[in-house]
Amino acid sequence: MDPQIFVIFGASGDLTQRKLIPAIYELYKVHLLPEHFALLGVSRTEMSDDAFRREVFFDNPHIEGAKDEGFSRYLFYQPIDTMQQEAYKKVRARLAKLDEERQTEGNYVFYLSTPPSLYPKIPAFLANEGLNNSNKGWKRLVIEKPFGYSRESARQLNQELLQYFGEDQIFRIDHYLGKETVQNLLVTRFANGIYEPLWNRNYIHHIEVTAAEEIGVEKRGGYYDRSGALRDMVQNHLLQVVAHMAMEPPITADASAIRNEKLKLLQSIRPITREEVPRYAIRGQYIASNIGEEKVAGYRQEEGVAGDSITETYVALKFYIDNWRWAGVPFYIRTGKCLPTKATEAVVYFKSPPHHLFRNVQDMMNVNNQLIIRIQPDEGLLLQFGMKVPGAGFQVKNVNMDFHYSDLTEGDVPEAYERLLLDVMKGDPTLYARGDSVEAAWQFVDPILEAWANDPSIKLYGYPAGTWGPDIANKLIEGNSVSWRNPCRNLTDADNYCEL
Ligand code: BG6
Repeated sequence: MDPQIFVIFGASGDLTQRKLIPAIYELYKVHLLPEHFALLGVSRTEMSDDAFRREVFFDNPHIEGAKDEGFSRYLFYQPIDTMQQEAYKKVRARLAKLDEERQTEGNYVFYLSTPPSLYPKIPAFLANEGLNNSNKGWKRLVIEKPFGYSRESARQLNQELLQYFGEDQIFRIDHYLGKETVQNLLVTRFANGIYEPLWNRNYIHHIEVTAAEEIGVEKRGGYYDRSGALRDMVQNHLLQVVAHMAMEPPITADASAIRNEKLKLLQSIRPITREEVPRYAIRGQYIASNIGEEKVAGYRQEEGVAGDSITETYVALKFYIDNWRWAGVPFYIRTGKCLPTKATEAVVYFKSPPHHLFRNVQDMMNVNNQLIIRIQPDEGLLLQFGMKVPGAGFQVKNVNMDFHYSDLTEGDVPEAYERLLLDVMKGDPTLYARGDSVEAAWQFVDPILEAWANDPSIKLYGYPAGTWGPDIANKLIEGNSVSWRNPCRNLTDADNYCEL
């Protein structure tokens, strides 16, 4: 890998401590950092290099185990007023000095882990100091979410960034794409002969994606109340999962081929019109409840949340993809805070056999084959199919065939940020969201957001914290023999044991 300096703006923030430094330290431990490397933290807080090393490394509660001092020698810190153009001279001078000492050849990654209001500003300040110029060493820019607030604001942000950095220099992070299991969706589909022939409207009845979270908004009420579940989880993470589930096979496995197919898919999602919103988009908000002995606060009682907030903490959608492969196949997606467990999975429901030979099916409701792709936790794959119950007659029962990542002996599943940071250091944009597909995803969610914001007659359903969201979401799935699969923590949802 090329020698380089990794610059983090917003270095005294939570993400640096929680995700970025732990991920880079993991890369260091497995010898994946380049030999000539430095990490420069930049933010407003006055702090020395040593204090920074203590805060983000030695005293970092998110890094377990013994800490190798060798790593701390890669860490440096530069305090600046990030809003002042003048201050960027200091950044340039510091980088030049480190560059010389560390022989990093002018290759810099700039990671913006700052409030979104600074996203267009910092690139402009950097550019005015010539720090966008790839003539002497490459320059890359990483942008955290949220990428815009609506299609229009995302388009504007793209335009602003493109004034200073080329699309090939911009890396928009979506940490779901860094998840091993989300990437494995492509391998499951395109490296196996058995799934792809069935992966279309002829054999698939419907597809469901659930991203359930057990926690509430915790300390992020201020941010979340202006965002809501649709912006926070659906526009980015869930639509990326849908794109991986539903896109056409790319011509090759390189970044532009994969990203072209994802864009096409996102563009083919049929928009939910404003009139259809009440029918196809269910919004909910958790209300206070007792979970066991514990009293759980409702969303409106959370810190930073308005007492009369109508921000959704739960959303369930039904939509169609208007293309040859998926015509007529409904997609159902949902996500929520304060649900009974944390689990993310995609479920493919295959159509039932055309002729019901065996009437004696124990559980008519589940007789369709299901393929469950577990994104987290207990990462793996589960295929459900009917088996004959031993004994007289033809009793049929659903059984499981499963694979768990934990059964692989070679190492752990890497953290999403480890993979993504490594990729940007290598210059591989495959797992980053391209500007056009971010806009396409906003295009789909915009009418829903607008309808919710402007039409007070569209209901916001309360659901007690710790339950599976508003009951009405079950009605989205038509046909009374199927409903959402409510996942357990363990993938193999054994008949009488479901760990939450
Ligand atoms: C983030 C959202 O992008 O994803 C959070 O802002 C959410 O609200 C988180 O909790 C979920 O990520 P994961 O990896 O825990 O599923």
